[in-house]
Amino acid sequence: MLVGPREARAGIVWPDGCGSAWEGRDRLRGATPGRWRSPRARGGRMGYDETAGRDAGEERPTMTDRVPIFVELCAGTAALSLRLEHPRARPPVSRMGAKTGYADVILRCMGLRPGQGADRYLWCEPDAGVRLLLHAYRDRELATAAADIIRGWQDEDPRALWERLRAEGPAVCPPVDAREVARWAAIQANTQKSGGFDAMTVGGPSNRRPMRMEDLASRNAWSITLPATIADDARAIDPPQLPPGVVVYIDPPYLGTTGYAHTFPREEWVPVVQRWQEAGALVVVSEAEPIPELMADGWHAVRIDGERKGQKRTFSKQQAEWLTMSEAPRWRPSVQMGLWR
Ligand SMILES: C[S@@+](CC[C@H](N)C(=O)[O-])C[C@H]1O[C@@H](n2cnc3c(N)ncnc32)[C@H](O)[C@@H]1O
Repeated sequence: MLVGPREARAGIVWPDGCGSAWEGRDRLRGATPGRWRSPRARGGRMGYDETAGRDAGEERPTMTDRVPIFVELCAGTAALSLRLEHPRARPPVSRMGAKTGYADVILRCMGLRPGQGADRYLWCEPDAGVRLLLHAYRDRELATAAADIIRGWQDEDPRALWERLRAEGPAVCPPVDAREVARWAAIQANTQKSGGFDAMTVGGPSNRRPMRMEDLASRNAWSITLPATIADDARAIDPPQLPPGVVVYIDPPYLGTTGYAHTFPREEWVPVVQRWQEAGALVVVSEAEPIPELMADGWHAVRIDGERKGQKRTFSKQQAEWLTMSEAPRWRPSVQMGLWR
């Protein structure tokens, strides 16, 4: 398979069915009939799918097969990929900005369902700690070893353990090491947004109790194995022409928020998502507002914050949640009407 310089830098081997980036651009210029074409190649309107005989952006039915490639360009804990793979999967630890509570509704807007699965996942994430977790999602042996190490810390006092593990310094990846996965997860599980110790609890209002290391070690994410490729920087990937059905999700650090070690300003990720759209993917962006640059290009916005599922710990104060989508949402949350208007 042909590999362009950006892909080579990111170390990605594209599955069969993908062209090279350069081949893809040529094909766009030639505009093969019946294939998805970018709005720009089509003179700005949403695509007409000649094979299906309808406007691809508006009428495509919910997909039922496994997605050929599901991409998270700012993966973090990859909450969406986990839910796509398994209807009850969730990241083993909470992390600022994680989309665990929104995973079902976002998949639904994409026309996907929890548990549908993907043949291949691609995750981009530069943060060393959360990258360790992503490696555990795709390597059962690593995940099992990490869970066993966490279990081995069961009898230690939670605060003393947290302080001891933190004193070892920031997470390191590469290399990918089971103890480092365990160390990062055990620290993350009990760290609050300000960076201090936060004794996590588990259970509902009637049976709440302090979280034990055994609780963390038995979370379902440690026993899920996803066929994934991990890259560090979303900017380094130039997608080839993609087969139909590829879905790309980006949940960038929100405008005006701080707290991630790696910044990724809007002016840098907008061209990235435009490249993926041109390559033939359905692209979906999360932010606290519709993205004006993309709306001007004919993208669609849907507000989803009414659909969030409860989480034990939330790092952000309640704020608006929008999806900006390169094609019309396959489903829209109903809008609550005031009774007395
Ligand atoms: C809002 S979080 C994503 C949360 C994720 N959706 C989840 O469910 O956990 C944004 C992520 O973008 C990552 N990021 C920052 N710069 C990036 C870049 N250049 N390429 C890819 N990811 C980046 C941050 O490290 C952070 O983990």
